[in-house]
Amino acid sequence: MKQHSSQTNMEGANIRQSDRRSFLKTGVTIGGAFIAAPAFSSISAGGTKASAKKSGQYFTKYRTLGTGKNSIEVSVLGLGCMGMSWNRTFIPDRKEMIGLIRRAYEMGVTLFDTAEAYGPFVNEELVGEAIKPFRKDIILCSKFGFKIENGKMTGGFNSKPEHIRSVVEHSLKSLKTDVIDLLYQHRVDPGVPMEDVAGTVKELIKEGKVKHFGLSEAGAESIRKAHSIQPVTALQTEYSLMTREPENEVLKVCEELGIGFVPYSPLCRAYLTGYINERTKYDPANDNRPNLPRYQPDAVKANWVMIDELTKFGNQRGLTAAQVALAWLLAQKPWIVPIPGTTKLAHLQENLWSADFEFTSEELSVFNAVISKIKIVGDRYPVSQTK
Ligand SMILES: NC(=O)c1ccc[n+]([C@@H]2O[C@H](COP(=O)([O-])OP(=O)(O)OC[C@H]3O[C@@H](n4cnc5c(N)ncnc54)[C@H](OP(=O)(O)O)[C@@H]3O)[C@@H](O)[C@H]2O)c1
Repeated sequence: MKQHSSQTNMEGANIRQSDRRSFLKTGVTIGGAFIAAPAFSSISAGGTKASAKKSGQYFTKYRTLGTGKNSIEVSVLGLGCMGMSWNRTFIPDRKEMIGLIRRAYEMGVTLFDTAEAYGPFVNEELVGEAIKPFRKDIILCSKFGFKIENGKMTGGFNSKPEHIRSVVEHSLKSLKTDVIDLLYQHRVDPGVPMEDVAGTVKELIKEGKVKHFGLSEAGAESIRKAHSIQPVTALQTEYSLMTREPENEVLKVCEELGIGFVPYSPLCRAYLTGYINERTKYDPANDNRPNLPRYQPDAVKANWVMIDELTKFGNQRGLTAAQVALAWLLAQKPWIVPIPGTTKLAHLQENLWSADFEFTSEELSVFNAVISKIKIVGDRYPVSQTK
């Protein structure tokens, strides 16, 4: 990614502030609602391109997800839709969420993420209905691979070829479409050889039911095996300032093979925004955070130094903690496209605007030096889910 290397820290910050001012002026009216759309005209970095929509009314930035033959062009940030119907405690009004997804598209988002498992099923149905008016203009992503019985997640995996086929048929119906643009295996299934999984997706691609193949939380060996049978477009794995394991190996494998990387939970399930703390109450029936070590009160308090650093950095540059966290991810590789989830227009705007800020190389190295001293307390998932 191109950095503003010739500028001093302060100059860099000033220049970007003026970008921000000009883009704040570029508010447009869409469907009667004021949307302050980003005028990403003057900055363009590495794999990120500034582009105008045909209407000329509003702008976003695009990135190429991956570098290989199977890479795809998408908005610089995607929208994770899971929390609109599952696993984030409250379930907002469905009509409002359809409206939010449509607003995201109007604001330039072209990558929408869902899965059979979210709900299960209901999130795909919601996303399918929301994206109907602009289906052909976006990249629609879904996932298979969990065992679901009597409409409930069992915690087990199922990537048997016949099961993949039946999930895809069901997903196509739920999504109200005839093709899934990017189909991920949600988790590697230790009971099914990767050759069979990749082979089945290859056939589905030949049949025109799927366009691109992705993996989620797969390790290096699984990625290589899958890619040798059906080229992988993207790996979707948890990656954020709180979860940096992908840097050890899988990011390098993605780079070598030209596979794009989609960080999920890029805001560490809201932690990096500073909005949740040790007093936050979750609904354990519809939220995985109460079961994850990192969201226990002691870990939340111990890790707060990260929020302090994000706030300190952001305060000097007119950015929120969430924006710094997302801009940091974008600065890691030009072929990374995070998918923050939200149920609120204000948060959606805030998150998209993070692409308006670019770390200078000096800022990045100073920031990295500070955060590398923070020892994160509390694991994320059980190790069994990361094979
Ligand atoms: N492949 C996988 O296994 C996997 C696993 C988990 C998630 N995912 C995908 O990744 C997407 C995102 O992950 P995630 O939802 O787990 O985590 P996330 O994006 O890190 O965080 C989402 C949470 O942060 C809050 N939030 C978002 N922007 C905010 C802002 N600017 N200020 C304050 N709060 C903000 C949201 O609440 P509000 O609604 O109140 O904004 C929501 O509770 C999901 O939707 C899903 O598509 C994939």
